[in-house]
Amino acid sequence: MTDLTSVIIGVGGYLPERILTNDDLCKVVDTSDEWIQTRTGIRQRHIAAQGELTSDLATAAAKAALANAGIEAGSVDLIVLATTTPDKTFPATATIVQDKLGIRGGAAFDVQAVCSGFLFALATADSMLKSGLFKTALVIGAETFTRLLDWSDRTTCVLFGDGAGAVVLRAEPQNKKKPGGVLGHHIRTDGSKQKLLYVDGGVSSTGTIGHVRMQGNQVFKHAVTNISSAVVEVLEMTGHTISEIDWFVPHQANQRILDGVGRKLGIDDAKLVSTVELHGNTSAASIPLALSTSVSDGRITQGDLVLSEAMGGGFSWGASLFRL
Ligand code: ACO
Repeated sequence: MTDLTSVIIGVGGYLPERILTNDDLCKVVDTSDEWIQTRTGIRQRHIAAQGELTSDLATAAAKAALANAGIEAGSVDLIVLATTTPDKTFPATATIVQDKLGIRGGAAFDVQAVCSGFLFALATADSMLKSGLFKTALVIGAETFTRLLDWSDRTTCVLFGDGAGAVVLRAEPQNKKKPGGVLGHHIRTDGSKQKLLYVDGGVSSTGTIGHVRMQGNQVFKHAVTNISSAVVEVLEMTGHTISEIDWFVPHQANQRILDGVGRKLGIDDAKLVSTVELHGNTSAASIPLALSTSVSDGRITQGDLVLSEAMGGGFSWGASLFRL
């Protein structure tokens, strides 16, 4: 154990104003509110306005997290932003957020692990803080994911939405008797499964943005297996058990995946934070959005032990354990 830990001192979220309900989607593709709700638990999703960029969503979430932490943007010396939908091919959206927040020092960069992006970004920032390289980090998940959708493909377009969430992490001396802050991560990828969930375009392949393509039932099967194994790994690594967890804050992909993982791991339903109904799958944004919702409504309070997990394109997946 190192002498430093990374403590989450603030959380924040942002959802664009416009809401697209399942009934709205029925006017676009052959689907129904009943099919979508039964298969996914999703009722509605938010859609970024024209001209509203991933960096705008990220900046709004970051400002909310900074306000929640009670610190000024100027004390942030690291921004790690997880996104699949950057404003531009370069520079990194994190640097655009750095500028929008008026931060003139430190470093900012993006991480790309699709729906697992927030956990990969958290692991990256946590390692950098614990090594003493930086002191205060913004870890952001932000997506205008609906811009990657093929609105004629009902198997994908009903699932996703736009949004952003952020946490402020600060390096603090570790209390060795009662370890706090970020306790451990387990992150993994398997590139051999990329054909099950991918975007059929890109800068060096087609020169176009492309659209999301997915074999949903295969993704579902792998998601429950991979997530469950990552959770077991992170619990073993940190010496905790599932019954000690106060809150389970998973990537909000689909209610059936959340329930499947919960059942497999024996997680009490009352400990599950689910917000997927209200914003669909917001990819890298969904974990910090769910965290922010459950902190602001008073469910998660200081000292609670929180387990988080995600799975996404790549395949990429992981789990994280932290004490708020
Ligand atoms: N509305 C109505 N019918 C639909 C729709 C729709 N939106 N989409 C598919 N269908 C039809 C199919 O055409 C098929 O019809 P058929 O039987 O006549 O051929 C039928 O519904 C069943 O299709 P399946 O693909 O077998 O449906 P399934 O029960 O697997 O549910 C779903 C699909 C919801 C996508 C599910 O596979 C799933 O949740 N997968 C996980 C995918 C996911 O969450 N991906 C997000 C990214 S990865 C992550 O974040 C974890």
